[in-house]
Amino acid sequence: MTLSRRSFVAGVAAASLAGPGALAATESADPTPHPSKGLLGEGPPSDRFDPWLEIDQSALVTNAGIVSHLTGGRPILAVIKNNAYGLGLTQVAHILEPLESIAGFAVVKAAAALALREAGVRKPVLLMGLFSDEDGPELVARDIHLSLSTDDSASRAARAAERAGKQAAAHVYLDTGMSRMGIPYHRALPVLEAAAALPIRIDGTFMGFTEEPEFDREQLRRFTDLAAEARRRGASLGALHAASSNGVFHLPEAHLDMVRPGIALFGAYPSDWEAERAMAELVPAVRLRARVVRVQRLRAGDTVSYGRRYEASEPTWIATIPVGHADGYTSKAVNGAQILIGDRLYPVIGSVSASHTIIEVGSERTLDIGDVATLVGPDDPAIHPNALAATTSTSVYDVLMHLNSGLPRFLV
Ligand SMILES: Cc1ncc(COP(=O)(O)O)c(C=O)c1O
Repeated sequence: MTLSRRSFVAGVAAASLAGPGALAATESADPTPHPSKGLLGEGPPSDRFDPWLEIDQSALVTNAGIVSHLTGGRPILAVIKNNAYGLGLTQVAHILEPLESIAGFAVVKAAAALALREAGVRKPVLLMGLFSDEDGPELVARDIHLSLSTDDSASRAARAAERAGKQAAAHVYLDTGMSRMGIPYHRALPVLEAAAALPIRIDGTFMGFTEEPEFDREQLRRFTDLAAEARRRGASLGALHAASSNGVFHLPEAHLDMVRPGIALFGAYPSDWEAERAMAELVPAVRLRARVVRVQRLRAGDTVSYGRRYEASEPTWIATIPVGHADGYTSKAVNGAQILIGDRLYPVIGSVSASHTIIEVGSERTLDIGDVATLVGPDDPAIHPNALAATTSTSVYDVLMHLNSGLPRFLV
């Protein structure tokens, strides 16, 4: 079963290991100004048994090119919230920033916005989350674009600018039916007019879709009608943007002045992934990997892991991979997920525990301790993030965003 984010919420390669450099484990702990230089030096040693992530730079570049192509060359405001969907905030920003198609970055947390500046990112950064009065002046001083998402945001932004001694730049966040963040569109006109009277530079005006196809069109109508009326009254709105990855694929009329995708840049599909894959071949930009730490031959009748949910009906080889749900690998993987080792796929059995996953090898011993296992990645259709999400009835957003920020990251 394939679950889009919407239905999920409603219902419930053997690339080289030694990349050019290792990356810091967490975004905020990363003092490196460039992704090719890392804290861990030369990449994972060949006998490393801790799991790791490989971040595929060329996949990110390819995916940005595909988004650009799908949207007629619209500028891309790259959404890299939640540690760039698990891939690593500053590392991803450094890879994407040189691309002409990337107009800037959008995050939800003030700390992430500041971490980008700290890491030397120069392109515009939009903080989509609500800024506090305490953070406001520093955000303005670091040239973070603020979202005006409440009735008093514009006056608070003006105050923050005064304290920073610098003009504030902002995007107005409108709520056209999502009811999550933003100023409700039906009473936004006076707020837009009041903002226009303040010494704030409005660089953009945006909204988010519910991703319910019929209602998306109604939301877009509300947005464009309001924008037209506000402009008629003299308000300056900057670039209009609305489309996330779903809109990139399914709602061309929402591409407007700029698009705001996240997950597509990382190589996963937002909703109906079979249909979307027919439109464009995105490349998953992350691999979750670890080396086999144990190989054992079960006797007939032996059982595996917590709950003894697997029992060998005949002598069978099994192997242990030191990755578990605490690393971000879904515990639902026992419901049919497979893991790639060499050119073979092995089914997950028993249960996924916090730090270990067990696979069935079969009647022949076809692998060894130290062999590299890929649990998520582009190297086989079965371990594609969307396939893992579909097999395990989880959201592809969770497959990526739950990747533990403490996992070492290596560029390939
Ligand atoms: C306001 C907003 N815009 C854009 C995005 C990017 O969405 P997606 O990853 O589906 O492209 C998100 C992420 O959920 C978001 O919250």
